[in-house]
Amino acid sequence: MKKWFMMMALALCALTLTACGGGSGAKGSGSSASPKAETSAKKDAAPSGKRALVAYFSRADENYNVGYIEKGNTKILAEMIAEATGADIFEIVPAKPYPKEYTPATEIAKKEKNENARPEIVGTMPDVSKYDVIFLGYPIWWGDLPMPCYTFFDKVKLEGKTVAPFCTHEGSGLSGTDRYIANTTKAKVTEALEMKGTTAQKNQGEAKKEVLAWLKKIGINL
Ligand SMILES: Cc1cc2nc3c(=O)[nH]c(=O)nc-3n(C[C@H](O)[C@H](O)[C@H](O)COP(=O)(O)O)c2cc1C
Repeated sequence: MKKWFMMMALALCALTLTACGGGSGAKGSGSSASPKAETSAKKDAAPSGKRALVAYFSRADENYNVGYIEKGNTKILAEMIAEATGADIFEIVPAKPYPKEYTPATEIAKKEKNENARPEIVGTMPDVSKYDVIFLGYPIWWGDLPMPCYTFFDKVKLEGKTVAPFCTHEGSGLSGTDRYIANTTKAKVTEALEMKGTTAQKNQGEAKKEVLAWLKKIGINL
């Protein structure tokens, strides 16, 4: 966390400098915070024979170390996992999109965490009773899961399910979020995949290798 706070401070300086210099990043048009949530059935089962769902939260637009991005870092991993396993995919989308700019987004996220808020999420929730395995993806926000993920936990019953967490971050690592998931949902939580968001965004060959190695390790995509 300490390291990440240092990085946040550096990022704030960088943003201020950019603003002072009149520079601006090229804005991506897509936002994972757009009011859309859907499941898309590809195949019925993961190669292991188990039915799997990838549920993820991810935010596009301006982010730490990557500038303005069209596809969130975690979303890139979510799509890789869905492709590798044949899982259905569901995006956790907040009803109120987070700001496109990084710093205002961090401020709102911090307030939500401090208040233990449950921001509304849109769409029909997936019927998780159909699935044996739920891959759960999220970025680390203030050393925790983004609060819309907790809203998701309130809405779907993951107790007794196998949840395989995967997260992206910029230095904090998993930050104990696997335990938070286990405590909150009472699911059986596998070993998690943790990856820097910059790797997911900028080095997708390496990201894919890590995803496949993790799937193999947890024994879901053999
Ligand atoms: C609101 C907010 C809070 C963040 N907090 C942390 C943090 O505590 N630790 C960390 O390593 N990275 C933190 N980051 C960086 C993100 O975890 C990282 O950029 C991640 O890859 C973003 O994934 P996404 O594009 O799927 O949303 C934060 C980013 C945002 C926007």
